[in-house]
Amino acid sequence: MHNSLLLFGATGDLAQRYLFPSLLHLLRDRLLPEDFRIVAIARSEHDDAAFQAWLRERLGDDYEAAALDELFRRTQYVPADLSDADAMAAALSRFADRPAVSYLSTPPNLFASACRGLEAAGLLAPPSRLVLEKPLGHDLASAQAIDATLKSTLDESQIFRIDHYLGKAPVQNLLALRLGNTLFEAVWERRWIESVDIIVAETAGVDGREGYYADYGALRDMVQNHMLQLLALIAMEPPAAMDTDSIRDEKRKVLRALRPMTPSAAAADSVRGRYRDGVVDGQAVKGFSHRDDVETFVGLRAWIDNWRWAGVPFRLVTGKRMPSRTSEVVVTFKPVTHWLFGPDERKRARANQLRVRLQPEETIELGLMGSLAASEWSANELQPMSLDLAMQPPKRRIAYERLMIDALKGDQTLFVRDDEVEAAWRWIDSVSAAWREAGTPVRDYPAGSWGPLEAQPFLPRTLTTHGGRKP
Ligand code: BG6
Repeated sequence: MHNSLLLFGATGDLAQRYLFPSLLHLLRDRLLPEDFRIVAIARSEHDDAAFQAWLRERLGDDYEAAALDELFRRTQYVPADLSDADAMAAALSRFADRPAVSYLSTPPNLFASACRGLEAAGLLAPPSRLVLEKPLGHDLASAQAIDATLKSTLDESQIFRIDHYLGKAPVQNLLALRLGNTLFEAVWERRWIESVDIIVAETAGVDGREGYYADYGALRDMVQNHMLQLLALIAMEPPAAMDTDSIRDEKRKVLRALRPMTPSAAAADSVRGRYRDGVVDGQAVKGFSHRDDVETFVGLRAWIDNWRWAGVPFRLVTGKRMPSRTSEVVVTFKPVTHWLFGPDERKRARANQLRVRLQPEETIELGLMGSLAASEWSANELQPMSLDLAMQPPKRRIAYERLMIDALKGDQTLFVRDDEVEAAWRWIDSVSAAWREAGTPVRDYPAGSWGPLEAQPFLPRTLTTHGGRKP
């Protein structure tokens, strides 16, 4: 395992909310090497003491003083301006004796000069690695430009593109469920599956990130990465082995099989929304008013043009300021081939559904039909029932903990390869071009609702039973 982490953007929002807490947990659980060191890099002219005081103030209440002391014992703060490659190289060259993992938790416009500075400081030579946060571009062309910059100094095997959804244990469990059970994989295709829903609903708004969001919207912020990675894991062919390239090869194939959106399909296959003033969790919240043509909610019907999924809609829904924080995958199976029961049962009949909730709690439900006989004469009175499993993970970890360990070990399986990023952007570009040409409107919805009225056909019934106004 590499024993030093150079963390760029050390005073940023992600570092405070997730990266330092992840490091604290890994240190607490003794999952990092004894000689592990962190170099925290940001623009502010702090010295170590000022940086520590600053971080302590932000994290202090959640952690014991001893845990923070241990983190600080291993952390050194280095002020550096990433946009000035020479100054950065000078500030960092004293760390060049260790193969390092450099983590760029910074906007992508700084990637190029950061790479130049790191290279000049001798910190990019193999086996050093570079971890990158999204957004990796705004469209295919800018993503390719970023990639070209990276590839001028690094090999793909050194590049670790983070999609933190891949570090979530319940997301990994999707693969285990699917591929570890004859029951599911045998029916995992168009002959038995009617539709697949992937939902990531958040109660949070875009507060504090209005500028970024106005440029990206939900399509680029959530669908290009997290939602398409979930889709790829659900829809890919079983890999020949659970190794890094076998899995990434299969994900890439699915992403490339996504049918490009066309302007004529946009009206039926997509809906965009933007939250207005409303009430979430009993609190009045302000609407997103930064730009009129940016969506905070998106519903898409995606089609995968391959043998396994021909004709099966994959509905992707994500939104901010929804009534509850719920991420789930719902696989709806086809109705039984021939109905043997009476007309009343037929009215009650529900298709089998596999519902895997990823957040906030992890549950697996299998919706079935059965008869809970009220009397010995009513054995054929079918009604919907459900097998429910509430997963109780031994320890809930922040997704970044797993990803940091993997990056330090050099395991790229849960990171996104260049060709996956490109395939995802290619499809996203087709959606944004279709919206532009078709003039797809951004429709208002009150904060605390399940999106605009037009989103109703995109939402599974299981979701809207979670409270909030139905659309
Ligand atoms: C980030 C997006 O990648 O994921 C945010 O930029 C979003 O807008 C977040 O809120 C959601 O992640 P999680 O882990 O809270 O579901």
